[in-house]
This record gives sequence, structure tokens and C-alpha cells, in this order.
Amino acid sequence: MTVGGGARLAADGALLDIQAPVRDEIERVPQAMWRIVTSDNELIGTVTEHLMGMRGKLFRPTLLLLASAVEQPVSDRAIQLAAIAELIHLGTLIHDDSVDHSVLRRGQPTVNALFSHQLSVLMGDFLYVRAMAELVRDGDLAVLTTVTSASSEMTLGEIRQLAAVDALAFSEADYEQLIRSKTASLFSAVCEVGAIVGGGSHREALARYGDRLGRAFQIADDLLDYTADQGTTGKPHGLDLREHKVTLPLIAALRDMGSAERARVEDLFADAEPSDELIAEVTQIVADSGGLEYARRRGDSYAEEAEQALSGLPRGPVRNALVDAMSYVLDRKS
Ligand code: IPE
Ligand code: IPE
Ligand code: MG
Ligand code: MG
Repeated sequence: MTVGGGARLAADGALLDIQAPVRDEIERVPQAMWRIVTSDNELIGTVTEHLMGMRGKLFRPTLLLLASAVEQPVSDRAIQLAAIAELIHLGTLIHDDSVDHSVLRRGQPTVNALFSHQLSVLMGDFLYVRAMAELVRDGDLAVLTTVTSASSEMTLGEIRQLAAVDALAFSEADYEQLIRSKTASLFSAVCEVGAIVGGGSHREALARYGDRLGRAFQIADDLLDYTADQGTTGKPHGLDLREHKVTLPLIAALRDMGSAERARVEDLFADAEPSDELIAEVTQIVADSGGLEYARRRGDSYAEEAEQALSGLPRGPVRNALVDAMSYVLDRKS
């Protein structure tokens, strides 16, 4: 289970440090996931095997387990819920890659690239539904409500993103709403679920922490799309501009650029298949206009808010790991 994606995970020392208080439990999450999606169907088996070879950072399960460990030791139930959370995340990624026409995920070909868009739709649904069925078996209405609200918010977020193709009309407020729904909603839900199964005392604080951390996480992801190469992220570089996705660096840069630069951005958004040169040029314009710097500052300020949310939690290794998760999110390379 640790081959392939596992090597990438092991290389990230900062992530390993954050996972230290729940190290043994996080190792049990992939196995729990694949137990939930086991099927006799041959095609599902083939795709599942491919997915098993591309383990991600397991960041949402990490947060759920840490949140559950604030007051008491991690339970088997928390591990099962962490597996459910990662399956929902994975289902969303499969759908997202199909929507974004992305060919690379976790350094491996995406389901849509290797198999088909049709299969991505169905496989994403399958993972979702299996995860939901497992939640029903868990039988806790508070957990079910938290996770299903986040899932429906995430879908709404992806739909909003699809509708947001006019670079000049997409505001920072629109972007804030988008990242809350498509990313922070699940981060908040996993922290809240962890709090619920871990005794329930810090539910609201951990939900708020997850929300702010999730926003910072998506801003960092949007920055990486501009700054990192695919060898490090395991995802294609510059895909957001290619797909006409408007993210914070561009929104901020548009406020400060001159009319010649603005015209180049308009050219890119008018072009159904912008060239690599045009994407590189607009990437440079965004950097020169201070867009990356602005997005970094917003990420920092969300991380500060996340830290404030933890102020009432008992001190100890778990709280420290949650604090360290913030700098990890801001500095992460993949
Ligand atoms: C990718 O999430 C989707 C975003 C919200 C940006 P991750 O960066 O956690 O992806 P994996 O699970 O580690 O591959
Ligand atoms: C985040 O959006 C995807 C979800 C929250 C489902 P992105 O489209 O930016 O994520 P990546 O870059 O493909 O991982
Ligand atoms: Mg995407
Ligand atoms: Mg992205």
C-alpha cells in the first residue's frame, strides 16, 4: 500500500511530523478505504487498483484523526470515518479531473485520461455512494448531517467554478465563496466530525479551524498552479489559466496591471486553447503585478485565524500538530 504515492508522502518530513500523534492510525486508513469500496465488478476492481497505487497526502484523514484525539485516544470508529472522508475527497478529485480535463493526479494518469470521462463520472459516484452508505451504517445523525452538507456544498462549489469563466467579472468575494464551498467545507466537516467522535467539547472551534485552514489550503493550491512544476505537485502546471479558471493571484493582479497587460489576459480568456507562450506570458504578468504576493498574504491571514480558533484547546502534542498544519499548508510544495 505504501508503494508509488507512498514514496511521495514519506518524502514530506513536515507532513510526517504533523501526523506523528496519529501515525499508527493513519497507516490503517488506506486499508479501511479499500475495504469499503470492494466490489465483484471487474471494471471497478481495475480502477480501484489504479487508485490504490496513487496515494495522496491523506491530509483530511489526518485532520479528522487529530481532531478526534484532542480529548481522548483515537478510536476505530474515527479511523473508519477518516477513510470515509478520504473516499469522498477522492470521488471529488476524480470528478474534478474530468471537469478540468486534467491528465495527471498524484503523479499518475487520471481516471479520465487512462480510462474515460464516462468511467470517471460513474467511479466518482461509486466512491461517494459507498462512503455515504458507510456513514449511514455508522448511524450518527450529527456526523451524517455534517458530511452531507459539506458534500453538497462542494458540488455547488464545482458548479460555481464551471460558471466562472469571465476573468474580469469574477471578484474576490466570488472567489472567497468558491473556496469556502469547494474546499473549506470538507476541511471544516472533517475537523467537526473528529471533534464529535472525540468527545464533542471543541466542535465549533475545530469546525472554524478547519474552515480557515481549508481556505488557506486552496489559496496555496492556486498559488502552486502558478509557481510549481508538475514533478513536485504530481499535477499539470498552469492548468488553471489553460482551463480559464480565475483564482486569487489573477484577481489581485488585475487590479494593478496596465491596459496592455489586461488586454493580454483578455486574449487568453478569449482563446479556447491558449498557447503555452500566452499562458507563460500571463503567468509572468500576474507575478509582476503582485498577484502572487497578495494571495500569499491572504493565505497567511487565514492561517492566523485558524490558529486563533485553537486557543481554547488543551495544550499538548495534538494541538501542536494542528498548529504546525498551518505552516505546512502555507509552505507545502505538493
Ligand atoms: C487537492 O487536494 C484538491 C484541493 C482541494 C486543492 P490535495 O492537495 O489534498 O490532494 P491529495 O489528496 O494530496 O492528492
Ligand atoms: C479543488 O480545485 C478541487 C476540489 C476541491 C474538488 P482544483 O481544481 O484547484 O484542484 P486540483 O488543482 O485539481 O487538485
Ligand atoms: Mg482540478
Ligand atoms: Mg488546483
